[in-house]
Amino acid sequence: MSEQQHRHKSGFETRAIHAGYEPDPTTGAVIPPIYATSTYKQDGVGGLRGGYEYSRSANPTRTALEGALAALEEGERGFAFASGLAAEDTLVRTTCRPGDHVVLPDDAYGGTFRLFAKVEEPWGIEHTAAPVDDVDAVRAAVRPGQTKLVWLETPTNPLLNIGDIEALASVAHDAGALLVVDNTFASPYLQQPLTLGADVIVHSTTKYAGGHSDVVGGALVVRDLELADRLTFHQNAIGAVAGPFDCFLTHRGLKTLGVRMDRHCDNAERVVEFLSSHPAVTKVFYPGIENHPGHAVAAKQMHRFGGMVSFRVSGGEEQALQVCDRAEVFTLGESLGGVESLIEHPGRMTHASVAGTDFEVPADLVRLSVGIETADDLLADLDRALG
Ligand SMILES: Cc1ncc(COP(=O)(O)O)c(C=O)c1O
Repeated sequence: MSEQQHRHKSGFETRAIHAGYEPDPTTGAVIPPIYATSTYKQDGVGGLRGGYEYSRSANPTRTALEGALAALEEGERGFAFASGLAAEDTLVRTTCRPGDHVVLPDDAYGGTFRLFAKVEEPWGIEHTAAPVDDVDAVRAAVRPGQTKLVWLETPTNPLLNIGDIEALASVAHDAGALLVVDNTFASPYLQQPLTLGADVIVHSTTKYAGGHSDVVGGALVVRDLELADRLTFHQNAIGAVAGPFDCFLTHRGLKTLGVRMDRHCDNAERVVEFLSSHPAVTKVFYPGIENHPGHAVAAKQMHRFGGMVSFRVSGGEEQALQVCDRAEVFTLGESLGGVESLIEHPGRMTHASVAGTDFEVPADLVRLSVGIETADDLLADLDRALG
């Protein structure tokens, strides 16, 4: 089956394993080689082989990853960057000009908030925060004619709020703006926002896409070819591209995304069940819980509910910090989406940069990235850590 057929006809796991790359015609290499080259021999001036000229513009290892990402998100074109934030910055500079405005989630990833507050705003791009689970509040935050992007994370980080992708796409489009969905938490296995009306997908591929905590990367995926051409120009002109070694690792991780995500979801469900009945836990945040305010929307737009779980503890910040310190199987660390379970205190770690702003998170909150270890070991570890 050709690459094109894989992209449009095959199931998710088949696309994850085959899309973006045909076995190398000269050697038959089944896996995309790491093209550790900065430049390419030309057959006479301007005689490029396969369009490759210089590796900031294009590199075959990156091309393979970008094709796979586009296929998994059901987009037309994918773009791989040095990090999720590099992807975000390139997107903003492609689509916004000084004087434009962006609507952000009021519990956006702290680094995304910092990018807008400390980097984009001084360049003249304004932003307003709105809760993603309140369509009317997002509509009220939009400034028709000035708002160029409505930015959505769903589930959000770290409170796991859910935004209705279809409804927010209408809000954005009514105002002539694009709906951007940061699909890092769900991954394309659980949710494909382009099929629900979103215009741009953002990923920190550092997380579930790579899946093994061994590489930092970012991605954009779009359907609109005119926007894709502008992104191609900016990706090269700004130059925050993913290198071939990083692309190789990310692409290798992507091939097992489906099986990993199912195991992440299985384990997260066990953890949620355990935490929900623990006396030291006052609240569990997980969109799979029926009384979660976003459950119905999550059930409509997600295939399952993901591997991220947050919870609040009765003993305040001190106990939250203790739980993080005492856990052993859950490694204390930032990031998420790897095969190993991680635990962190958002207020002091990933979200420290939003302290004192509208984006501040509760001090008694603990966030888990539930890995794919043996579930019983994860529950025993949390039991011990909670005392
Ligand atoms: C939801 C989300 N978006 C974007 C980013 C930024 O990605 P990166 O760290 O790869 O720059 C992160 C990082 O944690 C994230 O969690």
